[in-house]
Amino acid sequence: MTHSAGILGVGAYVPETVCTNQDIVNRGVNTSHDWIVERTGIHARRLASEHETTTYMSEQAARKALASAGLNPQDLDMIVVATTTPDYRGFPSVATQVQVALGAGSCPAWDLSAACSGFVYGLDVVTRLIESGGYQRVLLIAADRLSHRVDWSDRSTCILFGDGAGAVVLGRVDTGGVVATALHADGAHGSILSLPNDPPYIDMDGQSVFKVAVNCVVPSVLEALDLAGLTVSDVDWFIPHQANQRIMDHAIKKLGLPADRMVCHIDRYGNTSAASIPIGLAEASAQFKSGDVVVVIGFGAGFTWGAGVILWQ
Ligand code: ACO
Repeated sequence: MTHSAGILGVGAYVPETVCTNQDIVNRGVNTSHDWIVERTGIHARRLASEHETTTYMSEQAARKALASAGLNPQDLDMIVVATTTPDYRGFPSVATQVQVALGAGSCPAWDLSAACSGFVYGLDVVTRLIESGGYQRVLLIAADRLSHRVDWSDRSTCILFGDGAGAVVLGRVDTGGVVATALHADGAHGSILSLPNDPPYIDMDGQSVFKVAVNCVVPSVLEALDLAGLTVSDVDWFIPHQANQRIMDHAIKKLGLPADRMVCHIDRYGNTSAASIPIGLAEASAQFKSGDVVVVIGFGAGFTWGAGVILWQ
């Protein structure tokens, strides 16, 4: 027997420290507030302090998601953390450390690496696990701390990234829920956005990333809608990965969606990598009505991308 999977609760955490564009100029970076706003839409981002590790941010987001689902950590039967900035280079995983911080018993816990697409990759896999009947209540967290992985003298990358975490509890639902997901990857584009071991900082060909991203967003959304048996006119909310306001604006224009349907927080948080979509879900979900069609689309290093369609309960 197959089951439907839906989102039972959402939560997010962003670090307390706000870093404005002017703060970056004050650090001695050769840039300006106006340039950053015009090219990216970013006004500020949050920077994690030493104690705000990926595990800490994940735990905070998870506690909010569990509270909004009305569940206890012991109710979970799996924890998945999508991150490319784990606290340990190899192990233990962030997910196992979140498990112990939450007191979530001995449920399986593992990390997933798909860069900024991590949340949609997790959404796809966890949905299928629940549909199979093997798991009932899974905590999916997406968290990144990329501000510690940028070279603060590289003005083309240090302006873009912020830190944060978002979480959802996925579980069995009677109707609706996650009705379609579609994932892709093309490793041939691996070199345009990488985080090598040495030097341990993001290396990015911004223009190439921009072009690949723009070309994958709209087809991916249309593919997921088609799998769900829906069209663009059915979409109530559109939550794209927040990498650049211009990429997002291009997508809604091409799709023909009204601007007020798109959830945006890049102006306040910058590019929070895997966390950007669940942060958007957590912030916007108070406005969602039962039955609303929510479309999420992620894209990022690898290159990886994918979209999901959720019928909100
Ligand atoms: N301030 C001022 N000038 C700058 C800055 C800056 N912060 N950064 C670059 N410039 C300069 C460049 O040196 C260049 O100067 P030149 O003409 O004298 O050579 C000029 O601005 C134009 O540079 P471009 O790289 O062409 O600028 P562009 O409009 O492409 O914007 C940006 C750069 C913002 C990085 C853009 O390419 C972009 O957003 N790309 C996508 C990046 C992205 O989404 N990355 C994350 C993907 S998700 C993930 O997996 C992590």
